[in-house]
Amino acid sequence: MASIVLPLASTSPSVVADNRKLVRIGGSCMPNVRGEKRRDFSFKSRSSGRITMAVAVNVSRFEGVTMAPPDPILGVSEAFRADTNDLKLNLGVGAYRTEELQPYVLNVVKKAEKLMLEKGENKEYLPIEGLAAFNKVTAELLLGAGNPVLQQGRVATVQGLSGTGSLRLAAAFIQRYFPDAKALISSPTWGNHKNIFNDARVPWSEYRYYEPKTVGLDFDGMISDIKAAPDGSFVVLHGCAHNPTGIDPTPEQWEKIADVIQEKNHIPFFDVAYQGFASGNLDEDASSVRSFVSRGLEVLIAQSYSKNLGLYAERIGAINVVCSSSDAAARVKSQLKRLARPMYSNPPVHGARIVANVVGDPSLFNEWKEEMELMAGRIKNVRQRLFDSLSQKDKSGKDWSFILRQIGMFSFTGLNKAQSDNMTNKWHVYMTKDGRISLAGLSLAKCEYLADAIIDSYHNVS
Ligand code: LMR
Repeated sequence: MASIVLPLASTSPSVVADNRKLVRIGGSCMPNVRGEKRRDFSFKSRSSGRITMAVAVNVSRFEGVTMAPPDPILGVSEAFRADTNDLKLNLGVGAYRTEELQPYVLNVVKKAEKLMLEKGENKEYLPIEGLAAFNKVTAELLLGAGNPVLQQGRVATVQGLSGTGSLRLAAAFIQRYFPDAKALISSPTWGNHKNIFNDARVPWSEYRYYEPKTVGLDFDGMISDIKAAPDGSFVVLHGCAHNPTGIDPTPEQWEKIADVIQEKNHIPFFDVAYQGFASGNLDEDASSVRSFVSRGLEVLIAQSYSKNLGLYAERIGAINVVCSSSDAAARVKSQLKRLARPMYSNPPVHGARIVANVVGDPSLFNEWKEEMELMAGRIKNVRQRLFDSLSQKDKSGKDWSFILRQIGMFSFTGLNKAQSDNMTNKWHVYMTKDGRISLAGLSLAKCEYLADAIIDSYHNVS
């Protein structure tokens, strides 16, 4: 709809005729709702001198912008905040809470921040690739400090805006240098993977991963879908603690996955969001990535420190590209920087300094490992308690043991959308509609209540 022009007999600069917004103009070009410029005129009347014409804009130029749906994960927190019921429980977003269900800032983070303050660090721009000390320690943490690929300078590491930003930068790189390649993502996967590849214009398809009957891994389906994909596809793998299912391949299965990827000349693209947070052990959680790298494969790995260091809002992570030569790594890094510059220029420094201080200092590093074990341990305890509560309360004979086989901060309950809706609408338990619950947001004290909600939703809602 176009803007409306009202001739107004007035000499005053603005006249409000009704509740529409009037834009006073005087012989200037005003853009209309479609963004086209249109000439307006002021002219003299015979009786009263100057007559001003005004444009009433009662439609926004953003009329064509439709309302976006709430984010399937972060939107759950918004709905949770709006609920006034005391029983409410936020098991939507994957964010660690204490037993009192309060956010947790790690002691090592506080110590690192104190050190940073004492040093009086400046706020100058970082280089496009990020903080050198961070990039060094993050690649070492991921691959192991003595890894030959690091010694040979074969890894291009660029600091990213946590996991999402690092994945997005790599997706932009794929789109630019492999325009015919496709990404393969697991079904299901973390809700944002699809958005990232869609926005980067990288075509994707899914490989089978989850088997509802066993609430376990569909390993045969996964292998056959990876085999069937066009050669040279980018296979997105969750390094540990698969999100949302919490189901990981066994070490033997990882080897078979690597075999097929190698046969097909695919490029593995790991998303590592929970190193140390899944098992409580940093090396164990990096073992899938390290085994692929030790085969001499070229591998992409996105890292995040949101969970394992609790640096959610600092947006700190990295993209690492392991290449077959140091020369290739240098060229890849230069292009990642070239892509980053027009997107966000250079990354934020605060989180990078925290990581560099914690991972780079032996005593803080050890303290971090202890704190991470505590966090991972609390989640394991809650997982056990939830299983016990479900098993005791549910008299139907249903086997809930799949909960114990899952790993990491999530449990994939197998509840469908209607059942998940019942969890929220009736029980005030906020969770994603795919049936995922974040055990990191659950306390031991709330397990029985949650078990009641799950049993009711599972048995009484179809
Ligand atoms: C999650 O899956 O809940 C987290 O990774 C948070 C996010 O950004 O989606």
